[in-house]
This record gives sequence, C-alpha cells and structure tokens, in this order.
Amino acid sequence: MTRTLVGVVMGSRSDWETMRHCVEQLEAFGVPAEVRVLSAHRTPGELSAWIAAAEERGVEVFIAAAGMAAALPGVVAAQTTLPVLGVPMESKLLGGLDSLLSIVQMPGGIPVGTLAIGKAGAVNAAILATQILARAHPEYRDVVARHRAEQATKILAEPDPRAG
Ligand code: RP5
Repeated sequence: MTRTLVGVVMGSRSDWETMRHCVEQLEAFGVPAEVRVLSAHRTPGELSAWIAAAEERGVEVFIAAAGMAAALPGVVAAQTTLPVLGVPMESKLLGGLDSLLSIVQMPGGIPVGTLAIGKAGAVNAAILATQILARAHPEYRDVVARHRAEQATKILAEPDPRAG
C-alpha cells in the first residue's frame, strides 16, 4: 500500500468543485494523498477517527477546506501537531469572507496556515504542502522548482497582452 503524505479533508461534497484543483495539483506533483468529506459539525466523531488513522498511515500535512462557519481546519489542528493548511470556501451569501475569518482567526497556540479563498487557495495549499514535504522528501524540491519555472516560461512567452 502506498503511504499517503497529505490528508485532504473538506466539510461538504459541495466543496469538491473547488478542492478538486488542490487534489489535481497534488497529483500533478506526484504527492500521494487521501481525500475525505468529513464535517466538524455534522460528523465530528468520524473526523477525529480519520485524523488519528491518517497520522498512523503516515500523513505529514493536513489540508482542510470549509465554508461558512468554517470550523474544520481549526478542529483538525486541535487534534494533531502536524501542520494544517486551511482553505476558505467561497460561500453564496458572504462570498467566502465568513469562511476566511472563521479559519484565519484561530486562538493563539493552535495555528492553521490559512490560504486564499477559493481556487487560488486550493491550488496554493497543494503547493505549500509539497514545499513542507520537500524538507524531509528532497525529491519534491525539483518538482516545485520545475513548476515555478513553467509558470515563468508561460508568462514570458507572451509578454505583450495585445498579441493574444
Ligand atoms: C461547510 O458548510 C462546508 O464546508 C461547505 O462549504 C458549507 C456548506 O455545506 P453544504 O450545506 O453545501 O453541505 O460545512
């Protein structure tokens, strides 16, 4: 069985349309991840069990995504000493500002590394998780460096926006 290095959890299936970008980025980097829908509010017991089991399976970084009263990343952080990255989901009524503030305003002592709202945050969570892993798994250093170089090449290939 492949050891999973990243545990990705989201509060609802409705978060998947955004979080698929996170998982696709991890896959593009070749980072093995497990992915679950589990809610801090709706399935608290199962969430705790998954966090403990994921640690046992070798997960080294958690990515937790939630919207609205987005307790999930903080609740994950409360139950592990592994790094937790939080991704605020865009919400219908408040545009994701509710999710962002719920995730970023953690009390001192229990940190959650909070990313941008929505797709940018989802993708960046995958990149940041890979950067964290690269400290102990040097094979991921080149992967991240290559990704940076590709982004630069793409921009520099068409520097004049009038041409497109
Ligand atoms: C949060 O509530 C989820 O993370 C989701 O972003 C939001 C709405 O959930 P659903 O009502 O769509 O299941 O817990």
